[in-house]
Amino acid sequence: MKRIVVLISGTGSNLQAIHHACQAEGWPARIVAVLSNKPDADGLDWARAQGIEAVGLDHRVHADRAAFDAALSAEIDRQQPDLVVLAGFMRILTPAFVARYEGRMINIHPSLLPAFSGLHTHQRAINAGCRVAGATVHFVTAELDHGPIVAQAVVPVLDSDDAPTLARRVLAQEHRLYPMAVRWFVFDELALDGLRVRHTGAAAQHLLADAAGSKDTT
Ligand code: GAR
Repeated sequence: MKRIVVLISGTGSNLQAIHHACQAEGWPARIVAVLSNKPDADGLDWARAQGIEAVGLDHRVHADRAAFDAALSAEIDRQQPDLVVLAGFMRILTPAFVARYEGRMINIHPSLLPAFSGLHTHQRAINAGCRVAGATVHFVTAELDHGPIVAQAVVPVLDSDDAPTLARRVLAQEHRLYPMAVRWFVFDELALDGLRVRHTGAAAQHLLADAAGSKDTT
């Protein structure tokens, strides 16, 4: 049984998607705790309602980034996780923290990396004239949003899109993409080869959606 700790800062809709897939598909895994740097994050309330341990660790009460990361890793290590899942966790992590969970910490980012790391990804994709956008699940390394890519989801950018409509279309695919990637980790189906991640069963490591959200249009 693999132990999963999920880190969030807000709604936690990706957390919910992973939890539902884990239960519905009977993974040999369990989300043992949800941690947030925002004690009032909605996702913490949701987790408590599911009977999952949920802990708010306010980053503002810590002197600096290193002090917060030390408190966070103490809380994570208490859970002895096999996998740490960043799901809308909006804090930059120190290299020491990242090194501690190397190869067992993944993140979802709302762009097709390596394009648009950082913030405001949807507006930046629209401004750049991109015809597709999407989301990326990757292993976390010290360089922000740059680790080995596990899987990506691609959606069209419409002429009528603004950042919120594009964000909604991408988020709907995140809810398919992230459970898929976590499932692969849980079942030991990922092989790291330098910067490349292979699915050992040769599953397609991308999702393609049309404007209506239907999958696999090619
Ligand atoms: C998601 O869109 C996720 O990709 C993004 O935050 C949102 C969280 O939504 N993450 C980042 O921007 C990380 N740099 P959720 O709380 O409903 O899962």
